[in-house]
Formats: sequence, structure tokens, C-alpha cells
Amino acid sequence: MAEHLNQILNLRMTRRGVVSGGVSLAASTALGCSPSTMAPDLGSSIETSTPPTSGFEEVRQGYDGGVHWPQDTHVCDLVVSWGDPILPGAPSWEEGRTTATAQAQQFGDANDFLAFLPLPKGSKNSGHGLLVANHEFTSPRTMFVGHQGPLGADQIRTEMVGHGMSVVEVKRTDVGWGVVSDSVYNRRITLHTPFDLTGPAAGSDRLRTAGDIEGKRVLGTMANCAGGVTPWGTVLSGEENVQVYWSGDPKSGTTEQQQRSFGAMGIGESVLYKFADVDSRFDLKENPNEPNRFGWVVEVDPYDPTSTPKKHTALGRFFHEGAEVLVDPVTQRVVVYMGDDTADECLYRFVSAGKFDPDEAESNGRLLEEGTLAVAEFSPDGMRWNPLKPADGGEAAALSDVLIDTRLAALDAGGTPMDRPERIAIHPQSGDVYVMLTKNPAREQAMPANARPHNLWGQILVLHTGVDGHLGSEMKWSILLEGGPASDASVAPAPANTTEDGQISCPDNCTFDKEGRLWVTTDGNPGTRRKMGLDPQADGLYVVQTEGPHKGHSRMFFRACVGAELTGPCFTPDNSTLFLSVQHPGRGREGDPPTCWPAGLDDGVPPRSSVVALRNKHSGPVI
Ligand code: FEO
Ligand code: CA
Ligand code: CA
Repeated sequence: MAEHLNQILNLRMTRRGVVSGGVSLAASTALGCSPSTMAPDLGSSIETSTPPTSGFEEVRQGYDGGVHWPQDTHVCDLVVSWGDPILPGAPSWEEGRTTATAQAQQFGDANDFLAFLPLPKGSKNSGHGLLVANHEFTSPRTMFVGHQGPLGADQIRTEMVGHGMSVVEVKRTDVGWGVVSDSVYNRRITLHTPFDLTGPAAGSDRLRTAGDIEGKRVLGTMANCAGGVTPWGTVLSGEENVQVYWSGDPKSGTTEQQQRSFGAMGIGESVLYKFADVDSRFDLKENPNEPNRFGWVVEVDPYDPTSTPKKHTALGRFFHEGAEVLVDPVTQRVVVYMGDDTADECLYRFVSAGKFDPDEAESNGRLLEEGTLAVAEFSPDGMRWNPLKPADGGEAAALSDVLIDTRLAALDAGGTPMDRPERIAIHPQSGDVYVMLTKNPAREQAMPANARPHNLWGQILVLHTGVDGHLGSEMKWSILLEGGPASDASVAPAPANTTEDGQISCPDNCTFDKEGRLWVTTDGNPGTRRKMGLDPQADGLYVVQTEGPHKGHSRMFFRACVGAELTGPCFTPDNSTLFLSVQHPGRGREGDPPTCWPAGLDDGVPPRSSVVALRNKHSGPVI
């Protein structure tokens, strides 16, 4: 999201109406993404390439107000959009009439990560389950259409509940996927929802506030980016760009250690959300410890709507993109791979102290509370995981400082500054770890695994586990592909038969299908191309070969509308449906070209972040 922060700032400064009309969309349950209902300009221009994979015709690059997918072979359902009612009695979305009371009962804004958990729990049902989404941020230009000047108190409160997470029961019927509106599972988590702090830093002095004198319970989550699904059926979500929510001088009333930590996190440098106007938790002068309570990995149990979510301090505090979880097959310890999505920040691995036991639900639920956090150090011929430890070897207070100030500890431990580590996925057959490095234009010096100075286009890094598997202290690494168009001389040639349409720029989110193909979404392609004097091309979803003669070959499967990035790709267990977030459609473009997606232009309503579901027209897997 980082590249969008300036855009948010600009929007707040220039705030003006884009569309008017007050026509509300019908509830989007099970609407088809047909050209007539979904978008003003849908994919009519699809051409055949010479792919190593079969199953779809590649989507062409382009830049317009619609979304595009291979319509000859696939269908696209609109599942749920920002503002759709999801709790019993919730009001329907009406453009321009969003209130805090309504938003707290409706699907939140800017849906990012998606997880599908089958119903009933423990089954592999691929037609019925719980869809968990997080809501990374809010966009006042679409949330309060036509509003001028500073936001009022109720508008700020609306933004606070537009953040967080949603749990919605979803079901596939003859007309496609839709939300079960009266489900007991449906839930909103907002900036007011209590979270229990767990792990070594819980209860430490630096996590205590006037509202929580024990330092063990935090209200809310924010800036949630990607995430993960645990083997025990819960969902993890990373708190990422938490720095833009705090008002006041970070040097006022804080210790020197806090100032170092806040500086590393950029807290107080820019204020994009004036939450402090309605809640003193976000005023640094009154609550200098409150920022320490954000920037963690959170865990939610969607199967228990009454459960209290958790924030796990053992996994460290930084700008968490996501949290990719697996059980090491040899030791049964739980391993979590995590990226810190900021230029020149690091890649991390957590290994649990305890072991996963499929028959011990209660103890499994505590596996993320104790373990070893390590940072990745790369060399030309390999990499190693360096544990983060207090300098004196283990005093409790020092350990909590390591976890609260993870970036500082990682620097001390020799962590390699990376080209913005985004989401991570584990290959279903080889167990290799695939890391999306999105870009790093300010990089001055080449480093192992981050070889391009002024890296505009990103790369996909692979960690190869050795004889010690995911617990090994050393691994090998390779680059699956370098992003960027062939017209840029800094970009390594793409594998044979890769079309210009299939060339990836700025990889961000990803997931594997059961066949071992990597599905990659991008974030930032149009803006980077503009900087290079090229025509903008929308962000997309690509299918990448990871093995065999076509390794590294990529093809575009879905193209976003103008202003949107694609996030949260997520398959059902049988791979028959791929859920996908179309996040922040229309952002930053202000009508150039226009979009009202998922509505048509004639509807005259603001574009809305939404979840879509892609399926093959025939039964079976997506491809
Ligand atoms: Fe929210 Fe790392 O993008
Ligand atoms: Ca991103
Ligand atoms: Ca991301």
C-alpha cells in the first residue's frame, strides 16, 4: 500500500466529488460479472498466445474502467462489495450516506487479504464456507462523495469502522457465489474490537496505556494487508502501514527508546487519518505507548463469532505484509514466514517452541505465543536465519524490547535490506518458499537476492530448504523471475513464449494452486510505467510456471480496472473457485479514464472495492 499513501494524502488535500447521483446498487449477492452489469468496458480484446499451460486465452494488457478475464472459458461472480450489509438488520449501501453506525454493520473498505474456510469446519467443502477479508484502509473520496474540507467527527468514526476485518458466510448456487446474509458467523471487526495481546511482550511497560493498565488488551486492528491461514482453522492478518494514524509530536512524552522505535516505523511523520480528533488513543501526547500496540500479526477464529481475536507479540512488530504458516513435517513445529513491506526492510521466520497436534485444538491455539524469531541474511551463494535475541541473552524486559523494536534488532542481527518483501507462498510439492519482492526504486547498492539498483519492477525470490527443511539455519536461494517490460534494458529476458501481456511488474500477492502454479497479483504497474515514460497498464493476476522447461513463464489471467490493485488470491480446496480482491478501484485517477466499477458508468456511483469469484465454465479446477 505504501505507494498509495501519497495518493491518499493528495486526495485529502484536493477532496472533490467525482460522481453524484445517489443511485444505490442492489445487494451484490450472486450478481454475475457480466459485461452488461459489471463494467463499462469489459474484455473484448483477448488474443491467443502460445502458452505452456492450457485452459484459457491470455488477457491483453490495457488500461480502462473495467475488469477483464478470459470470458470464453470462465465466469466471474461479484461476491461482496464495500458497504454491502453483512450483519442482521444492517442498512443497505447508499452512495453518500455512509455513517459510522451503518458501516459497522457493513462490509468494510479496501478489502485486501482473503481466506476461504470450508463449512462445516474440518471439511473440504468447496461450495460453502466462510470468507474472511481484511480492510486495509478507507478512501474518503469514495466514502464521502462530494465532501469538501476536513472530515467531521462522524465521518472520522466511519473511517475507524471501515477499517478492520469481515467474516461472511458464502455459498455457491446455480447463479454463482453469494453471501448468506443471516448467517450467525457474519462478523465485523473494527478499530473498537478488543484483542488479547499474547507472547513475551504482552504486559510489558511499553504496551501499557491509561485505558489498559495491564498492557494485555488492545482495541482494534488497522492497516491489515495480507495474512495467512493456520492449520487449526484460524486466520492471520498483518498490520502493515500503521504509521499514518497518529497525531502529535512523537518526541513529546516518550523515552529515547520509543523515539528510536517510532522513527524506525515512521510514526508521526505524516498524518493521513485524524483519528485523534475523536479518540485520544491516537494522540501521541496523551498516549505515547499506543503505537506500540499496532504493527503485529493478529489472529481471528472465524468459526467462533464470539471469540476474542489475538495480537501475537512473539512474531515481532514491523510493517507486516502477511504470515505464511506451515507445519514442519519432521518436527511438527509451526513455521511462519513474514515480510516487512518497506524499502530496505527484512524477511523474517518464526519457529514455534511447541508442536502441532491435530487432536489438541486448545494447545494449537497457543503455538504462536512462544518461539524463535529470526531475520534473513543473504550472501551470494546462500542465506541464513539469524535469531533475534536480547544482547545480554534473555532477560524478559530485553526480549520484549526486541519484539517491539524488531527492525532495530534485525539490523543488529545482520538482516539484509530487501526490495520490499510482500506476500509469501509455499510450493505445495517442493516446499520451497516463494517471496514477492515488489520493488525498491531508491536502492543504491546491489545486494544478494536484491541485485538491481533503482529496482522499479521487483522480482520473485525462492528459498530452497535443505536437509533440515524449514527449520534449517541455512538455505539456498534463486530468482524465479525479474519483473518489468522487455523494453527496459535492466530486465532479464523472460522465458520463451512469454508475451508482452504476460510480463509481470511489481509482484505483491500470491498463492499456489494444487498443480504447483504460482498465481501472482501486482501492485504499482501503471504508476511505474508512467515514471518510465511508458503508457500505463493496469495491474493484473498472472499464472506463473515454477517447474519444468517453462519455469518462470507467466500469463495474464485477470486485469484490474483503472486505479485498482488485485489482492488476496485464494482458492477453494478443490481449486474450482479463485476468490480475488479488486482493491481501491478508481483510486488516484479522478475520472481519467472513468470507472464506477463494479457498477457501470451510467449508474453514476463511486467505484467500490469488491471480492470476485472466478470459475471455469465447465466443472473442475479454474485451470
Ligand atoms: Fe499493503 Fe504490502 O501492501
Ligand atoms: Ca503493495
Ligand atoms: Ca500487499
